Amino acid sequence: MKLFRNARIFTPIDDGRPAAGILQARLIRHDQGALLTTAGDIARVGDEKAVLSGLSAYAVHQEIDCGGRAMVPGFVDPHTHICFAERREAEFELRLSGAPYLEILAAGGGILSSARAVREAGEAALFERTAALAASAMAHGSTTIEIKSGYGLDTDTELMMLRVIRRVGRRLPLDVVPTFLGAHAVPPEYAGRTDDFVEMIVSDMIPAVRLQGIARFCDVFCEKGVFSVEQSRRILAAGAAAGMGAKIHADEVNDLGGAALAAELSAVSGDHLLAVSDVNIARMAEAGVVATLLPATAYSLKKPYARARAMIENGLPVAIATDCNPGSSFTESMPFVIGLAVMNMHMTPAEALVAATLNAACAIGMSGRTGSLTPGKQADFLLLDGESPAILAYHVGVSPVAAVYKRGERVAAAGSLEREDYR
Ligand code: NIG
Ligand code: FE
Repeated sequence: MKLFRNARIFTPIDDGRPAAGILQARLIRHDQGALLTTAGDIARVGDEKAVLSGLSAYAVHQEIDCGGRAMVPGFVDPHTHICFAERREAEFELRLSGAPYLEILAAGGGILSSARAVREAGEAALFERTAALAASAMAHGSTTIEIKSGYGLDTDTELMMLRVIRRVGRRLPLDVVPTFLGAHAVPPEYAGRTDDFVEMIVSDMIPAVRLQGIARFCDVFCEKGVFSVEQSRRILAAGAAAGMGAKIHADEVNDLGGAALAAELSAVSGDHLLAVSDVNIARMAEAGVVATLLPATAYSLKKPYARARAMIENGLPVAIATDCNPGSSFTESMPFVIGLAVMNMHMTPAEALVAATLNAACAIGMSGRTGSLTPGKQADFLLLDGESPAILAYHVGVSPVAAVYKRGERVAAAGSLEREDYR
């Protein structure tokens, strides 16, 4: 067993469900805390005295003094598109000079340019680039991440992306949750024939994805000019019939009804929600959907931030994610996202921490294994260069994550990966 002592521990109150309303603002805190691991899992956690009581000195093989640093659960990033081949720096400059995101897509750029790049890169190069970005996310404190396909847009390339995503989780000490996002954009072969593309997704892609057996969730970009509510419903229903839970890019740019659909289908999460209405916030709360907010996307698109306060006040559990992708949000840093959540969505540091851990784990079906410091869960945790989670929003532009532990093993320290082969 390994003993981590002399830590200031902060962890969500975990009753197996996402923390909503005032519960999202509460943390369990141990000022002189300790955590004991066994075979990568948490055996005991709490006040040092209680953790040590009755513990035989021979049982502890290694003792680590945490130096009074804050210890928090490893971050769970529940929404990323890090499986891509090329960056889109020129497009970023275009957007800075005023070109709207959806117009760039409609003109064949954006997601469609990433789809061309993935098709050209091939599996080996795509894997190396994705693994490198995932490793960087790990060095910033992510111990579990979701990764979506969606730059394939034909059956073979979508399957290739899902294979790459699975391999990333095998190479790195990182839990990777794969999501199938065939309905990310309409490829040029189907221009003006979105219904035909939807039919192809339902009758060809989804059965193939099911056979391959990698994806855990099915997602749709439900947006004006992309996929309508009816088309999204059809795809998610087919995904559910193939064993994939539903997720939706909902009401990102326009209030189209994606959030209402998330509620109707009891999706595991509704994501983005920059333009969601009050009625649909209430509907999502009632249906038990997690609201996954992506403040780095609002930052990069220069849009008003999602209304996290209204959601929390209406009992809708909020998770936060990077949305890391080459277009609308190029960051793999959860500390940056936490900073934005606190400063620009007016969440407290405690609410933001719960959003980045327990609620994020719930948003990707991983709360049984990670998301809080609870006996029986994986020993996925961080030591911060500070005395409370507030440091994450306070010391900005750098990562205050001093060390990252995955299943009780140190995998990164001071922003650097522990081993060469994680790179
Ligand atoms: O979540 N909105 C759709 N998908 C991504 C962007 C992907 C891209 O631009 O490459 C998002 O913002
Ligand atoms: Fe996204």
